[in-house]
Amino acid sequence: MAYKLVLLPGDGTGPEVMREAVKVLKAIEDSFGVSFDKVPFPAGGQYYLDTGAEWPDGCFESCKAADAILLGAVGLPEAVLPNGDLAGIGVLFGLRFGLDLYANVRPTKLYPNVRHKVHDTFKQVWEPGKVDFVIVRENTEGLYTPTRGYLDRGGVKELAIDSRVITRKGAERIIRFAFELAKTRKGAPADGKRRVTCVDKSNVTAGCKLFRRIYDEVSAGYPNIQKDYAYIDAFQQWLIRSPEAYDVAVTSNMFGDISTDLAAVLQGGMGMAAGGNIGDGHALFEPIHGSSPKHAGKDEVNPIAMVLATQMMLDWLGRRKQDRALREAANAVEAAVETVLKEGKRLTYDLGGNAKCSEVGTAIATAIPRAAKRVA
Ligand code: IPM
Ligand code: MG
Repeated sequence: MAYKLVLLPGDGTGPEVMREAVKVLKAIEDSFGVSFDKVPFPAGGQYYLDTGAEWPDGCFESCKAADAILLGAVGLPEAVLPNGDLAGIGVLFGLRFGLDLYANVRPTKLYPNVRHKVHDTFKQVWEPGKVDFVIVRENTEGLYTPTRGYLDRGGVKELAIDSRVITRKGAERIIRFAFELAKTRKGAPADGKRRVTCVDKSNVTAGCKLFRRIYDEVSAGYPNIQKDYAYIDAFQQWLIRSPEAYDVAVTSNMFGDISTDLAAVLQGGMGMAAGGNIGDGHALFEPIHGSSPKHAGKDEVNPIAMVLATQMMLDWLGRRKQDRALREAANAVEAAVETVLKEGKRLTYDLGGNAKCSEVGTAIATAIPRAAKRVA
């Protein structure tokens, strides 16, 4: 049986990194006896410029019917909707909200031979293995709730309001997701203790007070996982100072958006940062770097974030379908990425090399058969 995957390459460098993910999927098919029925759709800013719609008819329904969705990136600076929003974001939000993908799961892991990017001239102070945490970002409410608008009098915009909605349901399920995820991990690098950090601003906002109260309720059901609290402002500096103290952190939507870009600095930059948008019935996996139009068409960006998003997809699908081959395939993808990083001969510019995007993808795909033997 073939797993049905919808591929949304999107804009800018999205199609370039997606091509490398497809190479990796092919290598997985060859080594693990699984097969993927890959259904690509054009979607995003360029599609909007060409057609006046952000995505084709039937695309959402196909995503809904798929076993999983892979997204490259959407958005082009020149593709703007009449209301001023960037075209293509409607695709991302259409899927996040439309498929109720409430958990935005963003692992931050510093792999061997990758330098963090806290400062260009900074000496590498953390050994790999000391940065290995996951930020679990709520993905369907908070400041992203579409209850916003303008007070427009006589054609003049006088006031803008964004409401930040935190619900019991939304907080409870994301916090539970974070604790369940912690159960599957090995704890924080500093002390090997499983820990879920509640990141909020409960010294100020009502929503965060509710979020923290629900965290206390949910955490009571997980006596073997350490409770931990951080205000979002302090969390930003602790994350940079002592990343090894963190295992899983759970937070509301916008705080998660901001802190995951910061966290990517600890893992070698956005070229290494992957994420999953996961619900109870559907999931979409993506690199979190966006379409980076200035690099588009040059075959120069790092495909590893996209490959690691594919790895997350394989792991998620493997657990969901109880398919051991898929979970082993996920391990093999990570092992192949590690091999390429350790060899250090095929790295893109952001990691200090001069290899092309396609060369890195080929190197990873080529390393999969050997990695498959190791993880079997
Ligand atoms: C992300 C992005 C999106 C977000 C943008 C593109 C709307 O920054 O996935 O982190 O804000 O969620
Ligand atoms: Mg973001």
